Amino acid sequence: MRKILVTNALPYANGPIHMGHLLGYIQADIWVRAMRSFGHDVTYVCADDAHGTAIMLRAEKDGVTAEAHIKSMQQEHQNDFAAFNISFDHYDSTHSSENKTRVEEIYLKNQQAGHISVRPVTQLFDPEKQMFLSDRFIKGTCPKCHTEDQYGDACESCGTTYNATELLSPRSTLSGATPIEKSSDHYFFKLPDFKNYLQQWTRDQGRLPVSIANKLDEWFEAGLSDWDISRDAPYFGFEIPNAPNKYFYVWVDAPIGYMASFENYIKTKRPELNFDDYWNKDSQNELYHFIGKDIVYFHALFWPAMLEGAGYRTPTALFVNGFLTVNGQKMSKSRGTFIKAATYNKHLNPEQLRYYFASKLSDKVEDSDLNLDDFIQKVNSDLVGKVINIASRCAKFINKDFNNTLSKQCAEPELLQHFIDAGEQIMQSYESREFSTAIRQIMALADKANQYIDEKKPWALAKQSDQEQHVHDICSVGINLFRQLMIYLQPVLPALAHEVQQFLKLEDFHFASRENILTNWEINTFTPLMQRVDKKAVDAMVDASKSSLTVAETPATKAVKKTAKPAVKTTPITDETIQIDDFFKVDLRVAKVLQANTVDGSDKLLQLTLDVGEPEPRNVFSGIRAQYSPEDLQGKLVVMVANLAPRKMRFGISNGMVLCAGDGIIISPATDAKPGDKVS
Ligand code: MSP
Ligand code: ZN
Repeated sequence: MRKILVTNALPYANGPIHMGHLLGYIQADIWVRAMRSFGHDVTYVCADDAHGTAIMLRAEKDGVTAEAHIKSMQQEHQNDFAAFNISFDHYDSTHSSENKTRVEEIYLKNQQAGHISVRPVTQLFDPEKQMFLSDRFIKGTCPKCHTEDQYGDACESCGTTYNATELLSPRSTLSGATPIEKSSDHYFFKLPDFKNYLQQWTRDQGRLPVSIANKLDEWFEAGLSDWDISRDAPYFGFEIPNAPNKYFYVWVDAPIGYMASFENYIKTKRPELNFDDYWNKDSQNELYHFIGKDIVYFHALFWPAMLEGAGYRTPTALFVNGFLTVNGQKMSKSRGTFIKAATYNKHLNPEQLRYYFASKLSDKVEDSDLNLDDFIQKVNSDLVGKVINIASRCAKFINKDFNNTLSKQCAEPELLQHFIDAGEQIMQSYESREFSTAIRQIMALADKANQYIDEKKPWALAKQSDQEQHVHDICSVGINLFRQLMIYLQPVLPALAHEVQQFLKLEDFHFASRENILTNWEINTFTPLMQRVDKKAVDAMVDASKSSLTVAETPATKAVKKTAKPAVKTTPITDETIQIDDFFKVDLRVAKVLQANTVDGSDKLLQLTLDVGEPEPRNVFSGIRAQYSPEDLQGKLVVMVANLAPRKMRFGISNGMVLCAGDGIIISPATDAKPGDKVS
């Protein structure tokens, strides 16, 4: 029996679970349930990620202690996960004494091995709040293009990245005060010590999706830097041993929370398990982390390095999911597509979302779209129209005419054997996380089952008195096929499968049990198993999501809202004139967007591949993520500064600049312009 430990990313305790989160949790849960159904020993743990400045400020604003805040948040998260049938064996918090002990141990081991250094760092400090400000709590004017109201790390208008100390007229978004520069000692984890180790690790067979390993190569090329792991008080987190008033940055104790949650699971629920069996360097058990693509950097570099530095095993593999869009766009509060788990659950059936996500997910790191019309259509036609339909067509005869008992004989052994054999491939699809393939395979079987019933027409035969046995046989085959389908769908639809299990009076519903064919078997009376998705309920959910807009505001989102839309004011036109030759120095060209991608680790930038009429396309970063999703831009014509000196940014080299009007609205030439055309 394989022993497997699975984790999901730990959700932050400063906001509710929403549809985007659920994509990753549902993906992991389906995999866990499938692996359990195949007979493996799977332990599945998670926890709330409870530390950090945002959580501290949030509690402060609500007038409660941080401890009280994270406690109620955790309860809310656990309720949401339960509603969506996420089958965690244990759910903990990173704010636990076990985690504190483990964090200290891992830190001290790394320190003893020489992987920690200390040096002063000058940062902006809010003299009113008496705290250091991270980039997101500072706004000011971009030092390059002079756009006002930009965050402390990058300009949304021109895409330049800079240090917060370079901003012009900076202010604290917490108090409005002008920050001062202040120096303080910071603790660093020497990531470059692990360069060779990590380069090998990330390339190990099966460790990471290939697309991610390639991305990491870019980071290796750009060079690894020391990682700042300390934050000065006030901070909600764990204090660093022998460093008064210094706290571990939340991303140090968050992944260690995986270990601590597992430890607490053993302590409280499964004492026969042994922690070291799973975490020792020579452990043969498997360890998988399901994470979203935005947190790869932490899980593929810092985390294995910290573990290696402290003498622990590292994960067998990282399973990475892309992001969720709703109706083709980033989730948006104003459109009502920022849908909280709790809001969905109030209006719709969670199993149906699980099914829809499963039908979209593969092992690729691709974004998925929740298209609400498609959702209605797919669930109604597949689940209600195909799968459940098989049972409702057959069960009524068994219930009404045959004393709730299936036929003594199996009339279609070959058909049933075909369904059993198909299980092998379905298993493989589940194990390799090709859920959309699994769903296609299962729905092909459902089509076969329906075809069989369509051909045999038991409802017509039932009208003929000499066809009784025939009707009994056909409907018994139908029920057996339905049972096999539901065994296959059980990882995706656990609640429905459970009801079917009761309807069929079955003890065992594991994958292997599909091979037992039910004959002379008593079943219960059929009751409708699933309602169709009602468009009205979907609309009501979207409306409710619009009106819950103000509920989940955190200080951070509020700061954004307050300043995101600067009052309409145009910058006065400069009276500094230039000569025509000055203007011609700028080589403006028409370019075509061949590809647009989001940039891991930046919520401001899009990465554009531009055809400028040259043999090779150009790579350009543009700060327009808030205004456009990548699909909006594909194939679009833009105007670019083609002779701008290449700029090295945190994410790669930017080779030009795309022109925008006002607040990041792309300037697009008329359609008959060609890539490379000069603009003057
Ligand atoms: N607390 C960190 C994770 C620490 S793990 C040691 C965190 N929390 S989060 O609440 O922001 O996100 C939790 C998970 O949800 C992450 O895997 C993240 O990638 C995922 N998602 C958040 N929004 C998402 C979408 N819109 N779409 C898909 N996944 C998304 O990150
Ligand atoms: Zn700028």
